[in-house]
Amino acid sequence: MKLFIDSADLSEIKEIASMGILDGCTTNPSLLAKVGRKIETAIPEICEIVDGPVSAEVVSVNYEEILTEGRALAKLHKNVVVKVPLISEGLKAVKTFTKEGIKTNVTLCFSATQALLAAKAGATFISPFLGRIDDTSHEGMELIEQIVTIYQNYDLPTQVLAASIRSPYHVTQAAMVGAHCATIPGSILKQLIKHPLTDIGLEKFLADAKKSAATAK
Ligand code: E4P
Repeated sequence: MKLFIDSADLSEIKEIASMGILDGCTTNPSLLAKVGRKIETAIPEICEIVDGPVSAEVVSVNYEEILTEGRALAKLHKNVVVKVPLISEGLKAVKTFTKEGIKTNVTLCFSATQALLAAKAGATFISPFLGRIDDTSHEGMELIEQIVTIYQNYDLPTQVLAASIRSPYHVTQAAMVGAHCATIPGSILKQLIKHPLTDIGLEKFLADAKKSAATAK
């Protein structure tokens, strides 16, 4: 499974990228607002750090405006993926972007039929929002599983990008059901490394190595 960072925070992106496990990045208007950055300047900087697809989201909701905005975003860097909301004007735009060779990430997906339509429009990625579904007392992972199955049944090349990830367990589950990618906040990516038994075990190995260095023949 490819691992993307869900962030627009350059120092966080740099820190995680230095671990060598990053395949891409996703941003959205809320993440950009959180760090007080404009999309036009933030995205090229992220693309310098992350060697992989970087999603940049449009904020237009009608076909022509989505096209104008998305084409401008795509020109920022060769790795830009234009993120488009799952509305009918958005799907129309995805079809056109696909014809033009512009990669797309269809966002705000909350049902399997929405995902089917996004794939038919030619989306490169579909982003089902796992955590936000869980927040409504429904099982977000079921949706990921349904989409993976439907895409497999019909050999649809759209990649399932598990989004709105809230815990390391979400990452495990998304990988178990065959999501192609997961976009994960920096804090959770760091949690993926940690295990208390690793820390306890390492402490013991280091202490024993020190002891034996002093006494071993
Ligand atoms: C990423 O593409 C999505 O915009 C993001 O994962 C949404 O996450 P949230 O539900 O935590 O805001």
